[in-house]
Amino acid sequence: MLGQQFAAKINRGLPAPARAQEQRQQFGVGQRRRATRQHLFARSFVFGPVAYRHDFNIPRQDRARQAENPRIPVSYPPVMLSADSYMSAPALANLRILLGVSGGIAAYKAAELTRRLRDAGAEVRVVLTENAARFVTPLTFQALSGQPVRCGLWDESAEAAMGHIELARWAQRIVIAPASADLIARLAHGLADDLLTTLCLASTAAVALAPAMNQQMWAHAATQANLTVLRARGISVLGPGSGSQACGEFGAGRLLEADAIVAALAAMHGPQLLAGTRVLVSAGPTFEDIDPVRYVGNRSSGRMGFAVAQAAAEQGAEVQLVAGPVHLPTPAGVVRTDVRSARQMHAAVMQHIPQSDIFVSAAAVGDYRPAEIATHKLKKTGGSLTLTLTENPDIVAQVAALKNRPFVVGFAAETRDLQAHAQAKLAAKKLDLIAANQVGAGAGFDCADNELLLLWPGGKEHLARADKIVLARALVARIAALREPALGRTRPGGRKR
Ligand code: C5P
Repeated sequence: MLGQQFAAKINRGLPAPARAQEQRQQFGVGQRRRATRQHLFARSFVFGPVAYRHDFNIPRQDRARQAENPRIPVSYPPVMLSADSYMSAPALANLRILLGVSGGIAAYKAAELTRRLRDAGAEVRVVLTENAARFVTPLTFQALSGQPVRCGLWDESAEAAMGHIELARWAQRIVIAPASADLIARLAHGLADDLLTTLCLASTAAVALAPAMNQQMWAHAATQANLTVLRARGISVLGPGSGSQACGEFGAGRLLEADAIVAALAAMHGPQLLAGTRVLVSAGPTFEDIDPVRYVGNRSSGRMGFAVAQAAAEQGAEVQLVAGPVHLPTPAGVVRTDVRSARQMHAAVMQHIPQSDIFVSAAAVGDYRPAEIATHKLKKTGGSLTLTLTENPDIVAQVAALKNRPFVVGFAAETRDLQAHAQAKLAAKKLDLIAANQVGAGAGFDCADNELLLLWPGGKEHLARADKIVLARALVARIAALREPALGRTRPGGRKR
């Protein structure tokens, strides 16, 4: 299916016979599978945090720093995409990329990146900040991109050739490499005090940035807070890598290698994994009212479910989100229904299930509710108060028990024996996939990052601690991979419209 979507992209604009020929040549069955595999492989590597998996690549001194502050995302692995995988069918073919280069010693590496982007088929136009032009000359980029290079807002002849708004509209993707701490801060605050930041504000193109800076600047709370803001706006952060730095220090803050940046962009630009799929996501806590002012609730922030909704929408799915009481903005392209109690969530989910191919139950649904909701505020009686609780419907189990069920994904938040409990829930609730996470002691609930253990009948995958959107993207890639063999067959998740 993914191969067909990819083929459909390539086919646009070709006459029918040429289209058929092209499709035969490019997407034979084996090749189609290979394209899908490469895509998923690249994606999971690009987005997978590497601090724990690739420790052997990181100097000991650096490892110590990571151990001191494991919450700082450190490094993304070098992407093992061979030149062949993006050279033979250029992964960025005809993509119009605006490459922004900000001031830092890593600016020289952007020259290599320009070449690699063009090798991958992209049209590249380069914008240098004033400080970047102190490190590298515009002429270098002009020669490598084959296009005039822009350095400021006030160049009349450049504006006459292609005004900055026109340039912002031209770009289909903005890539900033290296992105300095200063540039990241200016972007986070929506400044438009030079050409590059102005273009970022004036463009609707997806933005990806590859940070490069001294490790202390990277670790600084201000930089991390700015990145949190940018990630929440959907900006992709590629890296940084970790290791020895130009300043003589060790740590996180190295610009990713050009190949890794190109592969990350290729993975984002690839065929959308869930195009044509309808995904229902439940998120957040439920509040079970005791009386008009009190309720029984839990500490779920809803961030994981919202991230799953965003990641599914990024992959082309039609996403319906049923959200418990949370204070989070709705991700772009997602349709949202707000509920409060488990019974309201149950009703909303059941209403949308017949139109869903995938159900991701990320909500922390209250297992019990007060048997009765008092009409008036309960008064103190001087003694103890006993509340009688009654069980709520198990939404995900009910969905999984439906005859014509979608692909069903559950979550398991556990305080101990994570794998054993999650495995038991996978079987008991008849799920297709479960994402388990350890909660308690500042982990899992009500925080920006998480660590997941994915279990499905016959397989498992560990997703190391990372921002929830990073984990959500990996989870969505796993869902797509598990559904792929089922498509066209009448088994869970293979439902036809
Ligand atoms: O049994 P437990 O509550 O740990 O199971 C967690 C999974 O079950 C989550 O996917 C959650 O959304 C779902 N669940 C549900 N309805 C309930 C309780 C949990 O859908 N009443």
